[in-house]
Amino acid sequence: MSQFEHFRLAHLPVPQRLVVSLVLIVLGVGYLIATYNLYLTYNLTDGEPGLTVSDLRRAFYGRRDNTKIASKIDGGSMSQFLTKPGDKEKILTWIQDGAEQPGYESVVRPILQENCIRCHNPNGLQRFAPLTSYEQVMTVAQIDRGEPVALWARVAHTHIQSIGLIFLGLAGAFSFTSVKPGIKNAVIVLPFAMLLVDFGARFLAKFVPGIVYLMLGSGACIGLLFAVMILVPLYEMWLKRA
Ligand code: HEC
Repeated sequence: MSQFEHFRLAHLPVPQRLVVSLVLIVLGVGYLIATYNLYLTYNLTDGEPGLTVSDLRRAFYGRRDNTKIASKIDGGSMSQFLTKPGDKEKILTWIQDGAEQPGYESVVRPILQENCIRCHNPNGLQRFAPLTSYEQVMTVAQIDRGEPVALWARVAHTHIQSIGLIFLGLAGAFSFTSVKPGIKNAVIVLPFAMLLVDFGARFLAKFVPGIVYLMLGSGACIGLLFAVMILVPLYEMWLKRA
């Protein structure tokens, strides 16, 4: 029998309970802001407000009958920046006609210069998606196949590693609550498993669009587990004190 078997967070003196509680609270606040960030990033992807499966499908599988720039300016989140009547149609026609360089120089470049590159330049808000040269514009004027694999790899490795460490803190604290052992073990294993499922699904969504449902489900599950792993320890430390 380990000496930790009957140890509970509620047994800690006040300073240590404060440390654990504040870490839990700050991680919870960070999670809420991350969710808000996800919402802001993806809610307009399909051109409609509200974060839905169709946003996720568009972001991760793409829209294979369309190019990224066309879907963004034609009812998507970038339509708002094309205020002069006819500009949108000029760009769409240029894409339809094969997105050749001469047409870019004479028609498209001036429109982008006037409306887009204040954000889409190497020092702007959208520095990772600059639209200042023909080559750069061509990366979004081809068929939209969703999130590139390289971007997935960049986001997945940093998120899996850092969220894994966050779960070390949350599941570690939760492991010292008085929840029944069976349930406790499930709540400890699930967030780690769901994290891998979530990023695995995000990868597979490039090939099978329906997998975004799994992504959404595992994401929701992670949200719920965050709440359980934060609220149960806080409750036991300050309200229950068993
Ligand atoms: C006020 C800053 C701003 C302006 C102006 C702007 N954009 Fe964007 N653009 C963004 C942001 C932020 C995103 C990422 C969020 C999104 O996709 O809605 C984005 C995303 C994009 C994307 C997707 C990039 C990618 O690789 O995922 C395209 C294409 C795009 N914009 C085209 C345009 C065009 C064309 C214009 C001009 C008509 C324009 N943008 C004007 C800020 C801007």
